[in-house]
Order: sequence, then structure tokens, then C-alpha cells
Amino acid sequence: MNRTFRTSRSALAAAACAALWAGAGAPAAQAKSVADDIAEYRAMLADGNPSELFEAKGEALWKQPRGPKNATLEACDLGLGPGVVKGAFVELPRWFADTGRVQDLESRLLSCMQSLQGFDAAAIAKTPFGRGEQAHLESLVAWIASQSTGMKLNLPQARPEERRMYALGRKAFFYRAGPMDFSCASCHGSEGKRVRLQDLPDLTRNPGDGIGFAAWPAYRVSSGELWGMQRRLNDCFRQQRFPYPGYASEVTIALGVYLGVNAKGAVSTAPSIRR
Ligand code: HEC
Repeated sequence: MNRTFRTSRSALAAAACAALWAGAGAPAAQAKSVADDIAEYRAMLADGNPSELFEAKGEALWKQPRGPKNATLEACDLGLGPGVVKGAFVELPRWFADTGRVQDLESRLLSCMQSLQGFDAAAIAKTPFGRGEQAHLESLVAWIASQSTGMKLNLPQARPEERRMYALGRKAFFYRAGPMDFSCASCHGSEGKRVRLQDLPDLTRNPGDGIGFAAWPAYRVSSGELWGMQRRLNDCFRQQRFPYPGYASEVTIALGVYLGVNAKGAVSTAPSIRR
């Protein structure tokens, strides 16, 4: 677990806040921004991030023989070779030869659960969030992401399929439709936007360490749940007044590629903690 990293991260955030205070002139100092408050709140929360409970469960699930084939996931190839977990998360989504697809962590896990353990991937994809194998998936993504915490996002773009998915993700990000004529860019296409006291990062470029793509999976304080990137995106489709996308569908993976490649070099703090 990354207790040390988390603690030093929150210390850093606190120091950054202090620096803001010290650096600001007298009039500006009075106007401590909502963003500063949010940063402080997140720093306080990060010291006792309950995602560690999900991580422990995810690690146990990885090593436990399960499913119709009574096998573990330890031979699952997350991109760096069978069984290699450390560092795999910050290079996802990427192209996989065996499935012939670009896959994010969740869709890759579905493939491994089907091929190694004999689960029905399509049935799991249709299961509501937080139930049955979907709940197991969220623990697995928490643990796998935690094995790359502090590493920089470095999604591969060498393959034409990976570049095609980036282009598709970009298109989806700017695609406006629905009753409000929103696109992702309506809320995440420029700096300084805010909804219900949540800062909305500009996701068309690298928004910084531990922000946007580099923050998820995350523990949601408001719901007491661990959300993977798939669920984060699902909820933003709802905010956009779009129909829900299929779990691990092509458009969700393409959006992941777009966000992840834009954020290349940002340090992953996942699993982070969010409102
Ligand atoms: C109507 C505004 C709105 C639209 C449209 C929208 N989002 Fe969001 N998004 C939000 C809000 C609000 C949050 C913060 C959520 C929270 O903390 O509850 C958020 C958070 C996020 C985050 C996590 C940011 C972080 O640092 O934790 C990502 C990634 C994201 N959205 C991606 C998308 C994508 C991709 C789309 C298009 C499919 C999209 N959003 C469309 C409002 C929107």
C-alpha cells in the first residue's frame, strides 16, 4: 500500500495551500478560493483513504481460484506480460494481440475473467454497478491501480489501432447532442469551470498530477463506494443527459485513450479520494 506516498502527497497539498496564503497579497489573501478549500478537504481526506480496504479485497480476489474453471487471475496479461501488475495500469488502455482490441483495465479484466476463470464477460458487463462480479471488478481495479500509484501516465500510441481509438475518443469528447446540447467539452473543455463546488478540469490537455484521468479509480466519499473509470464515465454521460454507454464499450475505452494520452506524464494518484 502507498501510505507513505499518500501522506507526503497530502503534506505537499497542505504546503501548497500555505504557499498560496503566504504568496498572495493582502486583498487576494482574503479571497481564499473555493478551489483552495476543495484542495484542503481532499488533503485531509487522503490521510485515511478507505480505498485501502478495496485494494486488499482486490488483491485477494486476484489470487483466489474462482469461476467455473476455478482458476486465479494470476496469469492475466495486463499489457506487460502474464501476471505483471506493477506499472501496467499507467499504460492502459492499450492494444492486445490476443483479443485484437484496444482495452482499458476493466475490459481487459473481463477478458481474463472469461478466458482464465470461465465467467461470462457479457453477463458481467450487464450487471449493475456495485453488484455481484461488478463489485469484485471495482476491488480488482483499486488494487491494480494501487500498484502503479506515483507512476506517470504513459499510454502507448505506437499502433494504428491505438491512434484510431484516440481519434474516436476525441470525436466523442466534442460530440454535442441531447436535450442540453452538451458535449464532454461543454464542462471539461476549458479551465476554471465549476459545478456544485466541484472544479471541472480541462481534459483536452494534461490537467496535472492526480487530476482527471490520473485520479481514477477513486473512493467516492458521497456514496461510500469505489468507482472505476467506467463508472466515472457512466456518471458523466448522465450529467451530459446522454443515454448510458455500454460497460467497457468501444466509446468508453476510446474516451479513456483520449483522456489518458492527453494526460501523458501526469502522476497517477489512483485510487484517489473524491467527494
Ligand atoms: C454537465 C457537466 C458535465 C459533462 C457534460 C461531463 N462531465 Fe465529467 N464531470 C462533471 C462533474 C460535475 C464532475 C465532478 C464530479 C464529482 O466530483 O461529483 C466531473 C468529473 C469528471 C472526471 C473526473 C475529474 C477528476 O479530477 O476527478 C472525468 C475524467 C470526467 N468528468 C470525464 C467526462 C467525460 C469524458 C465526459 C463526456 C462523456 C464528461 N465528463 C461530461 C460534469 C460533467
